[in-house]
Amino acid sequence: MAQYVNRFNTFERVLHWTVALSFFILVFTGLGLFAHSFFEYFDFFGGPQQGILFHKWAGIIFFVSSVLLFVSNVKETCRFDKDDVTWITKGGGYLSRKEQQIPQGKYNAGQKLFGLFSFAATLVMGATGLVIWNPAAMDRGLTQFSLMFHGLFFVLFMMGAVVHIYLGSIGNPGTLEGMLWGQVRKVWAKKHHIKWFKEVSGD
Ligand code: HEM
Repeated sequence: MAQYVNRFNTFERVLHWTVALSFFILVFTGLGLFAHSFFEYFDFFGGPQQGILFHKWAGIIFFVSSVLLFVSNVKETCRFDKDDVTWITKGGGYLSRKEQQIPQGKYNAGQKLFGLFSFAATLVMGATGLVIWNPAAMDRGLTQFSLMFHGLFFVLFMMGAVVHIYLGSIGNPGTLEGMLWGQVRKVWAKKHHIKWFKEVSGD
């Protein structure tokens, strides 16, 4: 019997890593724009002018790929049932020493919330980014408001991304395999996403 089950196809993996790579380019170039202490990050991109250009292009790539990632996951991300409520009230079992298995679909409730947050934050970053693209052409009040929200959502997005990256890698061994190679171990699928596993394997 095969040990593995398919989780993500090539398109889904390329899309996810496009989101992740453009996100990191945005973080490093964005930090250069955000505070003087990070100004030297622009050296990695060939100076401040090229850094800003990288930020703008990465912003477009991130916006499009992140919206596409949400659209391609919309069914799994937006449907919450009573098992998801249990998952949320128990903090996904992460707050207890006892092993807890709460039946979950393709994504657990925490992943669904991150997916929804990521989509909303992408829209806010995109809209405010467009306003501050060329500040001289925009109303001063609107520019200041957009700068504030661009910075605020950057901090929130970073916090969400740090948790996401930890839980998607060393926090839950076996999870990253799916996003790297497309397949996950059946024991992993049964442990973390039993409802999804039953659906795809017919077990
Ligand atoms: C090194 C960086 C990253 C790693 C290691 C990583 C890892 C993963 C893994 C392993 C999955 C699949 C989880 C599963 O099979 O249950 C996943 C899904 C996902 N990732 Fe990432 N990721 C990274 C960066 C990002 C970034 C920067 C974003 C968005 C800004 C993002 C957004 C998502 C979304 C929306 C999903 C779908 C499931 C969900 O909503 O959590 N990822 N990621």
